Parts: sequence; C-alpha cells; structure tokens
Amino acid sequence: MKVVAFNGSARKDGNTAILVRQVFAELEAEGIETELVQLAGQTIRGCTACGQCFKNKNRRCAVTSDIANDCIEKMVQADGIILASPTYFADVTTEMKALIDRAGFVARGNDDMLQRKVGAAVVAVRRAGSIHVFDTINHFFLIGQMIIPGSIYWNMGFGLAKGEVEQDEEGLRTMRTLGQNMAWLLKRIA
Ligand SMILES: Cc1cc2nc3c(=O)[nH]c(=O)nc-3n(C[C@H](O)[C@H](O)[C@H](O)COP(=O)(O)O)c2cc1C
Repeated sequence: MKVVAFNGSARKDGNTAILVRQVFAELEAEGIETELVQLAGQTIRGCTACGQCFKNKNRRCAVTSDIANDCIEKMVQADGIILASPTYFADVTTEMKALIDRAGFVARGNDDMLQRKVGAAVVAVRRAGSIHVFDTINHFFLIGQMIIPGSIYWNMGFGLAKGEVEQDEEGLRTMRTLGQNMAWLLKRIA
C-alpha cells in the first residue's frame, strides 16, 4: 500500500514538507509506503486545453515536455494521494494549480481513473487564506470520485519562515491525526 504526496511549494523542505512528514510518520507506523515529490525547481506548466487526453485515453497528458506525466503516473500507482501546498495569495501555488489542472483533466478524460483512491490536502499558511487552498485541493479529489478522511481540524499548519510550523502544536497534531485516519481508511477500502 502506498501514499504519494506532492509538495507544491517553491521552497523545498519548508513548512509544507514538514507537515507532510507528520502525516507520513503515522502512515509509515501502519506499514504504508510513502513518497514525497517536491515540485520546487521542476517544470510544470498549465493545461493547454488541447483535449487530447479525452481522445487518446492513454492515461497521459499529450504535453510531454515537463514532469506532469511522471506525477500522473505516480498518482495512478498509489492508493492514496496527498496534495500539499503553502498558501500563496489565498490559493494554491502556481505549480500545484498546474498539477491539479493537468492531472484532473487526464483523470476526467480517462473514466475518472483516480476514483476511490484516498485523497488528503495539507496546507501551510502564515495567517489567512488556507481554507481556500484546502477547498481548491478538495475540489480536485471530490470531482474525481476520491474519498477524503478528516482530522481534528482542517488540515493546516501556521508558520512563515522555514521550520516555523514546528511551533504550531495543534497544526502538527492535526497532521498526525490525519495520517492515522488516512491509514485507517486505506486499510478498510483496500
Ligand atoms: C508569493 C507568496 C504568497 C503568500 N501568500 C500568503 C497568503 O495569502 N496568506 C498567508 O497567510 N501566507 C502567505 N504566504 C506565506 C506562506 O504561505 C508561508 O510562509 C508558508 O509557510 C510557506 O510554506 P513553505 O515553507 O512550504 O514554502 C505567501 C508566501 C509567498 C512566497
């Protein structure tokens, strides 16, 4: 059983990655394999709206010049998918939005190929806008017929500078509980 997480931050190993690793610790304690893909420094562009994914039906994006297909393949192979993003102007980062649009359209053009996988959002934020990020990510899961576990609060952690989120005790606890609930759910629907 495997969960793959995508960190949409422009900053590698920042607050978003720290939060994802809290979720991972609980998943790994339950024997679930994990992989973190950090989009920082990699190229991923937005959807070109060519519609080829609906025609080709090969579970791939027709644009092959960036990492989108590698990410989509990892989603297909995984049982659970975490989309993690810091809050940028009250929404996901540009890179995360590109991944959502590309993977989302390929999934829709291929009979909702991610259906019934478990999905979870993870959000880092300094002060405000994180609920919108959380909603943006959950809209991707829900329209793809995916299943979403909850936690003790909406899945966000507070911090500005790299590492600051470690001081948000409730945020860390939210991620650990999310990991426990994700593991519980994955094992029951396997
Ligand atoms: C371009 C940009 C826009 C941001 N917009 C917001 C915002 O709207 N609300 C907020 O609370 N924090 C905002 N932040 C702060 C980040 O969300 C915060 O520092 C977060 O912890 C970064 O996560 P990371 O370390 O994983 O990159 C912004 C940061 C950047 C670089």
